[in-house]
Amino acid sequence: MEDLKIDPWSTTDYSDYAHLREQFGIQEFKKEHWKSLPHPPLLFRRGIVFGQRDFYRVIQAIQNKKKWAMMTGLMPSGKMHLGHKMVIDQVMYYQSLGADIFIGVADIEAYATRGYTLPEAKKVALEEYIISYIALGLKPCNIYFQSQQKEVTDLGYILAKKANWSEVTSIYGFTGATNMAHVFAPLIQCGDILHVQMKKYGGPRPTLVPVGVDQDPHIRFTRDIAQSHRLYNVAVAKDGKPGIFVKGKKDSEKLLDKAQEAVQKKGYSIKRITKYNALYIQDKNIDMDAIDRALAKIEQEYGGYGFILPSSTYHRFMTGLTGEKMSSSKPQTAIFLTDTPQEAQKKMQSAKTGGATSLAEQKKYGGNPNKCVVYELFLYHLLPDDKQLTEIYEKCRNGEQRCGDCKTLAIEMITKFLEELEGKRKEAKDKLDEYIN
Ligand code: TRP
Ligand code: SF4
Repeated sequence: MEDLKIDPWSTTDYSDYAHLREQFGIQEFKKEHWKSLPHPPLLFRRGIVFGQRDFYRVIQAIQNKKKWAMMTGLMPSGKMHLGHKMVIDQVMYYQSLGADIFIGVADIEAYATRGYTLPEAKKVALEEYIISYIALGLKPCNIYFQSQQKEVTDLGYILAKKANWSEVTSIYGFTGATNMAHVFAPLIQCGDILHVQMKKYGGPRPTLVPVGVDQDPHIRFTRDIAQSHRLYNVAVAKDGKPGIFVKGKKDSEKLLDKAQEAVQKKGYSIKRITKYNALYIQDKNIDMDAIDRALAKIEQEYGGYGFILPSSTYHRFMTGLTGEKMSSSKPQTAIFLTDTPQEAQKKMQSAKTGGATSLAEQKKYGGNPNKCVVYELFLYHLLPDDKQLTEIYEKCRNGEQRCGDCKTLAIEMITKFLEELEGKRKEAKDKLDEYIN
């Protein structure tokens, strides 16, 4: 496969997930990551969340009962479909684990990149997304609009000082014709992700950003920027020992003293070389995360932000019902959360399955659930029971399952889901004030 560039604003289908991981340094999201978590959701158990960066920080925070945040964004464009539901399923899971939840409505990004006005974006966000989130079971949390949250846009501007044109063009492919609002959109997204670590919003702490893999450029960019605003560098020296370095000249001796104190307080021994602004930790098996947090706190005392690099997870995209990419702008490819049961049934009737060309052939050779969007609906959403799912998979493979039966079952479940959701959406409308800042 040729080298690719992830473009968060394009409609490319990134389906070679292993390749993406290798090329961009995304780590695999493995069983060892989620098995220690309480009641792991189906998106974890079934490999739909496939990649991560620094997820260990989140696990540690949960295990050590420390504070952590989850931040994600909502693009208020088009209609909310089942593919979008995956993010909110994860949000609700992390909410149940006790994370501080922040959801930023990317109304400025929709304005800059999708041609919406801010009032249009607001309407879409409320009616299409937030009402459905509440109806799906999201509990009160911090939902805000980029355009209304001055601290976010201001932080984006401040952070921009350490990003330059060649960096953003190489990440995003901006050209001389790109409008400046678009150029600035990634910085506002940095503001979104990092503002939750400002004192007012809970201070430095692990922050998880669950997203689709198209958002990874923003994650890399944000992590780079967070790192360049730190006052300390933490790096492993040639001899394998971690070193702590004070980056700038301002307050450098004091910062070194403070770091030394913090590290020694944790029981580690240190070699200090003041003229290099460096401390080398001499021990093995060091809890770097605890040290990082301590350093972040010191940074805040000295006027820095002390950002802990945000962690992220990446989920796969659902295939559209027709076999092409699922898209808000192509209604036949997706079940919208505001579809009537009749509309959904119609779309389901013509959904692409992995069945053979005739019933006789299917009996003989079996179907292919891996190429079947009906099966994908079971896998991602409709069948939480792993045993029932496996049974359908095996029966399909050995020719005992008929596509018609799968569709009947899927339609039944979607109908019930949409009918219930409609009722809950009506109730949700009165609760909006509890959610929006
Ligand atoms: N760019 C995201 C999208 O297109 C939306 C977004 C804005 C976001 N701010 C964010 C996502 C912060 C995660 C975190 O969907
Ligand atoms: Fe898909 Fe079911 Fe047909 Fe198998 S039998 S291809 S799972 S619809």
